[in-house]
Amino acid sequence: MRKVKIRIKDLSKNFGEKRVLKNLNLNIYESESLAIIGESGSGKSVLTKCIDGLEDYDSGNISYENIKNIKKLSTSKKNDYMGKFGILFQNAALFDSLSIEENLKFCKKDNFKKILKDVGLPASILKEYPNDLSIGVQKRIGIARAILKNPEILILDEPTTGLDPIISKQINFLIKKLVKEKKITTVTVTHDMQSVYEFSDYTAFIENGSISWYGKSKEIKKKGNKSILNFIKGVY
Ligand SMILES: Nc1ncnc2c1ncn2[C@@H]1O[C@H](COP(=O)(O)OP(=O)(O)O)[C@@H](O)[C@H]1O
Ligand SMILES: [Mg+2]
Repeated sequence: MRKVKIRIKDLSKNFGEKRVLKNLNLNIYESESLAIIGESGSGKSVLTKCIDGLEDYDSGNISYENIKNIKKLSTSKKNDYMGKFGILFQNAALFDSLSIEENLKFCKKDNFKKILKDVGLPASILKEYPNDLSIGVQKRIGIARAILKNPEILILDEPTTGLDPIISKQINFLIKKLVKEKKITTVTVTHDMQSVYEFSDYTAFIENGSISWYGKSKEIKKKGNKSILNFIKGVY
């Protein structure tokens, strides 16, 4: 039985005159991996930020288990709420002036050897600085940081964008392993169809501010609407 973890109901979000999300509805189910795909600028990142509490929404509702509306949480409860999420931002977003060890310590004081092993990196990397590392390694560190505190929800915003095909494949393989082994509820924003097919159980296609198609990732080609089929043709 699928269990809804996060329910997004009639969500709208504007920036000034610009309506980015319009009465968007979407459920996120426990222990499932969901891909959110759509054109650049369609509101994918904004949607994830509404979900994890980094952005406020204008109307509609996001509920999380028995929290009826996350917008109504007090500041301290909101902080607890945000602590449930592990997030890989679009550009990995490591602190340049901090070593890898310091970047990880920022999230949790811990022995990082195990987590580095999980993402396929040697412990010697702890003494390095982000600028000296390839973007692929930075993304791995970003993923390590996101899973460090055993989040209830993992949000990966474009985990393979800007990576060459070989590194993308490695990152997809790594995420697949994490998602399948740890069974973390995962939301991945991507336009890499490899990420969709490899490790996302379900896919939501965002168009004109709402979800125009939702279904099993492996059924996109068979059951997709015109928009999603055009989109996947375009990215190939
Ligand atoms: N903080 C902001 N202020 C103003 N406009 C924003 C802000 N964040 C996002 N937008 C706009 O909202 C739209 C959706 O952005 P985004 O969610 O980042 O798109 P994407 O689907 O590429 O992730 C874009 O037009 C973007 O310019
Ligand atoms: Mg984005």
